[in-house]
Amino acid sequence: MKAITVEPHAPETARLEEVPEPDGHEGSVLVEAIAVGVCGTDVEIIEGHYGWAPPGKRRLVLGHESLGRVVDPGPSGGLRKGDFVVGIVRRPDPEPCPNCAVGEWDMCRNGQYTERGIKEIDGFMSERWRIEPEYAMKVDRSLGLLGVLLEPTTVVTKAWEQVFAVGQRAFWEPETVLVTGAGPIGLLAALVAKQRGLDVHVLDRVESGSKPELVRALGATYHACRVADVGFQPDVIVECTGVGQVINDSIRGIAAGGVVCLTGVGRGGSTLGPPAADVAAAAVLKNNVVVGSVNANKRHWYKAAQVLAHADRAWLAGLITRRERPDDFMRALQHQPDDIKVVIQFAEP
Ligand code: BGC
Repeated sequence: MKAITVEPHAPETARLEEVPEPDGHEGSVLVEAIAVGVCGTDVEIIEGHYGWAPPGKRRLVLGHESLGRVVDPGPSGGLRKGDFVVGIVRRPDPEPCPNCAVGEWDMCRNGQYTERGIKEIDGFMSERWRIEPEYAMKVDRSLGLLGVLLEPTTVVTKAWEQVFAVGQRAFWEPETVLVTGAGPIGLLAALVAKQRGLDVHVLDRVESGSKPELVRALGATYHACRVADVGFQPDVIVECTGVGQVINDSIRGIAAGGVVCLTGVGRGGSTLGPPAADVAAAAVLKNNVVVGSVNANKRHWYKAAQVLAHADRAWLAGLITRRERPDDFMRALQHQPDDIKVVIQFAEP
């Protein structure tokens, strides 16, 4: 079968190649790939900055935002042939740390977790893949291709859970949220906020095109300016750009008692900017919390499926701006100006 593979930490090594059928040890459920979403992490991996091959191998099958159709459910009772499933990305560390031991692999403390398509386990960008039944999340078939949005939705579902968890340290009834970055994570974070009844604002650099349109269609307000210029101090900022200056501006611009949740994984950038002590002083004097959030556990997967079920399907469809065939995977990985979510489509849903 064909798979998109890469040698991690060796740039320009990604290729579509013939690989053996998935091995039984990867799980008793055999799945035919329908589509795999592309995200910034995949780009980081193919550029050689991130990613780890499975032990004893040089190459990694890429892809962690999956959608597939069950070909053979194996002995598992819960799945049937033809069901649509999405694979959970992370596996707990073998040791396990206290959090992994209680099923919170997203909070793994010793860093020995593994992740499909990212860290030491092959991903989902292959014509067929296998999965353990307990890590195969069944999705509503009527969602069709939109099921591929489940994984990024789990990431923002966890981020929002973190925001509300830390918010509970004091009396706090947030009303306004600013999401920085109108990519897929930002727009899905805005969707969750809207579903929770918040006054939602989204900030991005672009002034026209599908990003502002999708924000307005959600009933939220779009801003193409700096955080300091939005005209209010948000109770929550969900930071989805990973850009140093936006992060600094967010910590300085948040309301007293507010929470800044960092979801973007950035790198480098200018070292010019306000000194760390000044940024920290702003947070201290306003009792702010800056919380980082990554990945998702089963509870978030369950809640994310509900988020998609309650969302307007036409709006969700607007997030998928480009579909590419596996042969054109490099084109899928190259960002184009109006891209939001690009998917590599292996089969018709
Ligand atoms: C994935 C997460 C993963 C993180 C770090 C993200 O792109 O969506 O599941 O934990 O990268 O590897």
